[in-house]
Amino acid sequence: MTSFETAFSRVYDAIFPPRPSVQALLGDLADRAPAPRWLDVACGTGRHAIFLALRGMRVTAIDLDPLMIRQARRAAQRAGLSIDLRLGDMSRSETYRGLGRRIGGASCLGNSLVYAAAPGDLERTIGHIAACLVDGGCFLVQVVNFDHFADRPSYAFPPIPVPSAGLIFRRRYERLEGGVLAFHLELDSDAGGGETLKATHLIRPLTLADLESALEAAGMTVRERWGDFDRRPWSAEAPATVVLAAR
Ligand SMILES: C[S@@+](CC[C@H](N)C(=O)[O-])C[C@H]1O[C@@H](n2cnc3c(N)ncnc32)[C@H](O)[C@@H]1O
Repeated sequence: MTSFETAFSRVYDAIFPPRPSVQALLGDLADRAPAPRWLDVACGTGRHAIFLALRGMRVTAIDLDPLMIRQARRAAQRAGLSIDLRLGDMSRSETYRGLGRRIGGASCLGNSLVYAAAPGDLERTIGHIAACLVDGGCFLVQVVNFDHFADRPSYAFPPIPVPSAGLIFRRRYERLEGGVLAFHLELDSDAGGGETLKATHLIRPLTLADLESALEAAGMTVRERWGDFDRRPWSAEAPATVVLAAR
């Protein structure tokens, strides 16, 4: 039987196609980075790593999921790119071994920092990333706008059809005790009657204030806060929380 993780790593790019606004922002940051090295944390299928490597950056990209790293490795090979792809947990220091303090820009996109949900993991993760940055190096984070969900006991996103795979992707948050959320993910056969693949992750619903205080505690300065990658102003109603910090 296929696991949720296997199916998800295969259809991830079809569920969330690359967005021009993400690439425009990353490209601007890479062009202004004080050193030509980039660190992409929780890189998934490697789309940002590949975009930045094609732009001339030397990229290190890390992810906890071996299936995601495998997809990223294949995509880098297809593009003829050499990317330092690492299987590792973003909250652990060994994941960043050998990187020194030479990184000009870092990113953690696609609502990934929320997986640093265990006590201390967020602070450790941001601390490791900050320690890799040269002075003036930037760190771009994007999460779902959890200020918007602050009072809801649960929230279901609109389903996303994936016609190329005959699947429908569903996801839903459920608020638990202790300030964490259960994030329920499902891949259903769109024809009905097929198997439904499921996974549940514990996540930390990071508000703008949570993010900013963790970044500042790691010695970074918040430079911008936007409501999405198109750089609209942040508000509690905006779809995303996008924060640009610098060391
Ligand atoms: C929604 S995907 C986002 C992928 C990519 N950043 C993007 O924007 O397309 C979330 C990724 O976070 C990774 N992840 C979750 N927990 C992690 C951890 N502790 N360390 C590293 N990666 C992690 C997952 O394996 C998954 O690939």
